[in-house]
Amino acid sequence: MTTFKRNILITGGAGFIGSHVVRLFVNKYPEYRIINLDKLTYAGNLANLKDIENLPNYVFIKADICDYEKMQELMELYHVDGIIHLAAESHVDRSIKDPFTFARTNVMGTLSLLQAAKVYWESLPEKYEGKRFYHISTDEVYGALEMTHPEGIEPPFTTTASSSEHHLAYGKDFFYEDTKYNPHSPYSASKASSDHFVRAFHDTYGMPTIVTNCSNNYGPYQFPEKLIPLFINNIRHRKPLPVYGKGENVRDWLYVEDHARAIDVIFHNGKTAETYNIGGFNEWKNIDIIKVVINTVDRLLGRKEGEDMDLITYVTDRLGHDMRYAIDSTKLQKELGWEPSLQFEEGIEKTVRWYLDNQEWMDNVTSGDYQKYYDSMYKGR
Ligand code: NAD
Ligand code: DAU
Repeated sequence: MTTFKRNILITGGAGFIGSHVVRLFVNKYPEYRIINLDKLTYAGNLANLKDIENLPNYVFIKADICDYEKMQELMELYHVDGIIHLAAESHVDRSIKDPFTFARTNVMGTLSLLQAAKVYWESLPEKYEGKRFYHISTDEVYGALEMTHPEGIEPPFTTTASSSEHHLAYGKDFFYEDTKYNPHSPYSASKASSDHFVRAFHDTYGMPTIVTNCSNNYGPYQFPEKLIPLFINNIRHRKPLPVYGKGENVRDWLYVEDHARAIDVIFHNGKTAETYNIGGFNEWKNIDIIKVVINTVDRLLGRKEGEDMDLITYVTDRLGHDMRYAIDSTKLQKELGWEPSLQFEEGIEKTVRWYLDNQEWMDNVTSGDYQKYYDSMYKGR
């Protein structure tokens, strides 16, 4: 029997970000056993991991994090000594329609995993030594920032990832690690609650926890309920592009592989009980990003650049729509030396190209219940 140097449980590893984290860890650390635990909800897809599924240090377990007995059993069975917890319900619009599912998975599921880890680790002679519970959270827990344009500077204020020292933004404020929690959607409220439970397990039991709060991710394998893949798919099929409100809301975008690299650095070198913000200083108004996506899809499909602009359709705004998110990731960059590797234009080009080259993946995830979801979310909006 192979003995592994570490046994790391990654939850939600069949989802968008999780699959990039699993791939990175399985390939980079052959000496670690990576146990991917996922319930395979509509958002989980094993096709995201085809390239690594047969590697000897990879194990997949289909399970629900809310199943406490199962979590306990797995901790013991695999001698889990590290947890990277990504499993969650992740889409804000769904949380507005069905908040209970979000409370169940994000709050109770996280608690179930925490308690199972606690009971198992406390039963070992070395207890919490060499252990880590790393919880992946979101910038949305901090609420929303105001748009206060810096004086004398004309839009666009967006900059590229590598120029973080000099970047300009849509407002003076940022989310810092000590920004007060102020969640507005059922999704962000459930994530905030789970963050509190994780920190409480450190403060009460001494569990070696870490929490990170990241900005919007984009890249391959994202489920097409989220802005960028949904719009790429619609442009391809020349379907309307439903822009919420005036399209003025600002999000701070990070390429998913850069998030996965940050998770690797923090899992190994982050300080216990600390919080790190992850983001690339890359703010975009929705309408501006949508125009970039339209131009890129058109160009790569051999259409006239911009010819699909008339697909833009302004629709009823999202309830409680947060105006602006902007992460300050200086702490992570200074203390742990991480920085984003991709310029935004490069990342978007890679992303659009990936979706266009992987139409079969898109067709598979948009078959089945997807049309029902789409109609319930957008029909008559
Ligand atoms: P996703 O929806 O693509 O994937 C979630 C995964 O969790 C899926 O594979 C799903 O099957 C699994 N899952 C859901 N409920 C489960 C349960 N009860 N038990 C086991 N597995 C379950 O989400 P994502 O965008 O990859 O986000 C991953 C994590 O990162 C989430 O915690 C999210 O809050 C956080 N996050 C996401 C972003 C982003 O931009 N996508 C940004 C910051 C933080
Ligand atoms: O900030 C991090 C968060 O980013 C993560 O925690 C969430 O899991 C992730 O889903 C994402 O949340 P957003 O709500 O910001 O992402 P979404 O892609 O749903 O929307 C991005 C912006 O685009 C937002 O302002 C709403 C707008 N939008 C979205 C959709 C799906 C539209 O205008 N039309 C749409 O059809």
